[in-house]
Amino acid sequence: MESSSSALEELTLESVKAEIYSRNNPTLTPVDIELHAEVVFRILELKKKHNAVILGHNYMEPLVFGLSEQGEQGDSLALSMSAAQAESDFIIFNGVRFMAETAKVLNPSKRVLIADKSAGCSLADDFGAEDVRILKEKYPGVPVMIYINSYADAKAECDVCCTSANAEQIAMDMPGDELIFVPDLFFAQNLERVLDGKKKILYPGKQNNAKGAVCEVHEKFSKEDIIAIRESFGISEENPNAMMYVHWECKPEVLQEADYYGSTTQIRNDIARRVEGGNLEKAFIASECELTSNLMEEFPSVEFATACSVRCNHMAKISLNKIKPILEAIDSGADLSQWEVVLSDSTIKKASKPIEKMLSLSS
Ligand code: 13P
Ligand code: SF4
Repeated sequence: MESSSSALEELTLESVKAEIYSRNNPTLTPVDIELHAEVVFRILELKKKHNAVILGHNYMEPLVFGLSEQGEQGDSLALSMSAAQAESDFIIFNGVRFMAETAKVLNPSKRVLIADKSAGCSLADDFGAEDVRILKEKYPGVPVMIYINSYADAKAECDVCCTSANAEQIAMDMPGDELIFVPDLFFAQNLERVLDGKKKILYPGKQNNAKGAVCEVHEKFSKEDIIAIRESFGISEENPNAMMYVHWECKPEVLQEADYYGSTTQIRNDIARRVEGGNLEKAFIASECELTSNLMEEFPSVEFATACSVRCNHMAKISLNKIKPILEAIDSGADLSQWEVVLSDSTIKKASKPIEKMLSLSS
């Protein structure tokens, strides 16, 4: 996606405004643009002055998403890789806190800043290091794979990390016939089905009373919703140019209704391939709704159905008006502690092992 950041040669308020208008995002009215162009301009001006990197998750609202260069937008895996390679002293992470923590673990000499440290995630917030230890005691010797949607202290207890872009592959690359997967219960059941006969997936609540977690956003989609959207929007088997996309975090019965499932960037890439081949007319994505807002901008030829009441309240905390003060503070040399992600050296050391292992196994 073309970003405000990359498309601007000469940075002025007028050029910023013109670039945002030129993106023709159907979710941005002139009211939105006129109200916010000045703050976008100031952020980009200070980003350039201080050579800051701004990473943007696919769930960021379009004006926030546009602050990031094309190569600095993406899913959890892509952003982890970008964070690991960032050379700037300042990494501003427009996503939720577990993502910013992962960036800090991968590039500990940089200052990682997040606009709102209370931007959590139901998966990460409801599952901790102690919950991993309980499972390890129940299944001694079985490797543990932890979803990236977890905090560094929980990751530190595990053998390998994964994201929705590589879980299947990493699970198969791990030694042995069994693997514990935490904390996402729906993702675990989806993985169990996909890997049936190849690898046994153990997880919280499966023949044990250990605690797991679910994504409070993706759990909102039911099989009945998917069937109703298919009917009302014409995503049927008779129309090969219409696609139902589903994220791995949805319930198993929802994933089974998908024409394609994957990470947010894998879904984006599948849309890009189909658009290039001239075979995508309409699509629905069972995931956070701002992903669709950003894809509507990038693929104007596709008609998207939306479910914009399905918003991640944690991701939504990252707003333009909370990002600007970070850059103003960098500019004035003020204290950054209210935004800075700080982890102990020992947590960084321990959490880096499963994350580095994931990166080394990711092809
Ligand atoms: P992705 O890694 O697919 O972007 O997913 C992150 C996430 O939080 C999904 O809800
Ligand atoms: Fe976490 Fe779900 Fe929000 Fe993703 S959408 S950050 S999994 S709460």
